[in-house]
Amino acid sequence: MASHGLRFFELNTGAKIPSVGLGTWLAQPGVVPHALATAINVGYRHIDCAQIYGNEKEIGEALKKLFADGVVKREDMFITSKLWCTDHLPEDVPKAFDRTLRDLQLDYLDLYLIHWPVSIKDGQLTKPDIPSTWRAMEALYNSGKARAIGVSNFSVKKLQDLLDVAHVPPAVNQVELHPSLQQPKLHAFCESKGVHLTGYSPLGKGYSSSNILKNPVLHTTAEKLGKTPAQIALRWGLQMGHSVLPKSTNDERLKENFDLFDWSIPAELLANFSDIEQERIVPGDGFVSKTSAGYKTTEELWDGE
Ligand code: A2P
Repeated sequence: MASHGLRFFELNTGAKIPSVGLGTWLAQPGVVPHALATAINVGYRHIDCAQIYGNEKEIGEALKKLFADGVVKREDMFITSKLWCTDHLPEDVPKAFDRTLRDLQLDYLDLYLIHWPVSIKDGQLTKPDIPSTWRAMEALYNSGKARAIGVSNFSVKKLQDLLDVAHVPPAVNQVELHPSLQQPKLHAFCESKGVHLTGYSPLGKGYSSSNILKNPVLHTTAEKLGKTPAQIALRWGLQMGHSVLPKSTNDERLKENFDLFDWSIPAELLANFSDIEQERIVPGDGFVSKTSAGYKTTEELWDGE
């Protein structure tokens, strides 16, 4: 029987990352403050943000109020944001970071990630020079304003290339992960290198119309354990050692998605998860173009993995 708990995982910096974070992608401005307050009351201590989500100012206002009202302390929160593709040049990295800090009204981030291994300059897609972006990320880490640095949407190949040149190894790779995209090769690689994996779209939704929560394996497991398919998908992530970032702006679902710590999926039910058909729901097709100087195909973006 797997152990219960799993509230935190440890990063290679020694910091603890809360295993369940609130995703804020596609959270419409206007609903974020309420969702954030509900989440924090339910027990969430980890918020996943990004400049490109367009809601960091609003999240900053909401956090300021929650801190001022004594609902939670800054040091008990784990707050992540991400460098957008337009800001890969080393001179742009600290500017983008400072803008995010200003918008979030914070003086440090717990984690700052390169959002995609893709550069967009003057509307054109190119391949970024990751080593020089990473030097600028390392400078943020060394300044203490980013307490951990990492990447997102990196393949094994791109992570290995980065590890070959990094002075500060990435603490985290945040990628699409759920029972319908288990990424076993990436999982094994990250485990062997001490890079923590965080799963985005852990309910398999994002922009897509596919619904992995309808999968019969998730349904059967949910029925046997008296849980919902969403809880099964999230708990699977925790038992794999991944932190998970379910997004919700609904009070009941925010609660449901955090109710993961006093039960577990037994090994004999977990074994069925290898039968689940695999599909990527965030293919990154907006980041490839046959006519650009960047990646020509999604195959190339993900290095065929
Ligand atoms: P809502 O915000 O109305 O709750 P993902 O994080 O995988 O992209 O999934 C987010 C989507 O899944 C959102 O549309 C969210 O809608 C919905 N969602 C969040 N929690 C649950 C849940 N427990 N069961 C079903 N759908 C959920």
